[in-house]
Amino acid sequence: MTTALVFGAAGGLGRAITTALKAADVRVLGVARDESVLTGLEATSADLTDENQVAAACLWAAREVGTIDLLVLAAGRMANAPLAETSAAALQHLWADNVLSAHLVTRHAAPLLTPASHRVYLGAHVEKLQFPKLGAYAGAKAALDAWVRVLIREERPMKTTLLRLPAVDTGLWAHAPFPLPKGALTPTAVGDEVVRCWREGKAGVVDLA
Ligand SMILES: NC(=O)c1ccc[n+]([C@@H]2O[C@H](COP(=O)([O-])OP(=O)(O)OC[C@H]3O[C@@H](n4cnc5c(N)ncnc54)[C@H](OP(=O)(O)O)[C@@H]3O)[C@@H](O)[C@H]2O)c1
Repeated sequence: MTTALVFGAAGGLGRAITTALKAADVRVLGVARDESVLTGLEATSADLTDENQVAAACLWAAREVGTIDLLVLAAGRMANAPLAETSAAALQHLWADNVLSAHLVTRHAAPLLTPASHRVYLGAHVEKLQFPKLGAYAGAKAALDAWVRVLIREERPMKTTLLRLPAVDTGLWAHAPFPLPKGALTPTAVGDEVVRCWREGKAGVVDLA
């Protein structure tokens, strides 16, 4: 049976991706900060900015399934404050949630992958994020964008997708400096796109409009 490991499985997009994968007959293992919110899913807890916790989550997955066909990173956080009022600690915390998490998950999940495995990272249209009070988030997503693009080039032919999203209607927007834009996508549309990327082997940078 095909197996996926979803980090950030409790978020709006993590849940939608998990649902779409299960509908596609994929066995899904989930990782969230608090596994108790992931009812009905094989799950474990980890703060993705804590290297020991990420390593333990990957060891758990290895014991459960051995190898995985698909890895999805769907964790991240938005913040709403002018740069001048953002403390160094707040900036570090936000960048860790959005960028360090990708680094730790990628390194520690590596032993779970086979040459046929596929990794999907959720990114944003970073050139459209440069709004007041969104600086810390815009910087984090730009860093993630560059980080994944390099990973794609370094680890070819492994299939790695940077799925760049427009606004999607999730709880992320509770922390935004402005309302959810009209025409935002549904999380279900993103879940379906992740399944499409995996099924069709769509690697590289994929822009969802
Ligand atoms: N929604 C959009 O419009 C949009 C657009 C472009 C890109 N994205 C990206 O898509 C990803 C998912 O966003 P979403 O819309 O699903 O947001 P969401 O509903 O707020 O979910 C984000 C999830 O990430 C988890 N998380 C954050 N930091 C974590 C950490 N250190 N360790 C473990 N879990 C952590 C949160 O866990 P807790 O609940 O425990 O904090 C939450 O479950 C993010 O990277 C976001 O930047 C979203």
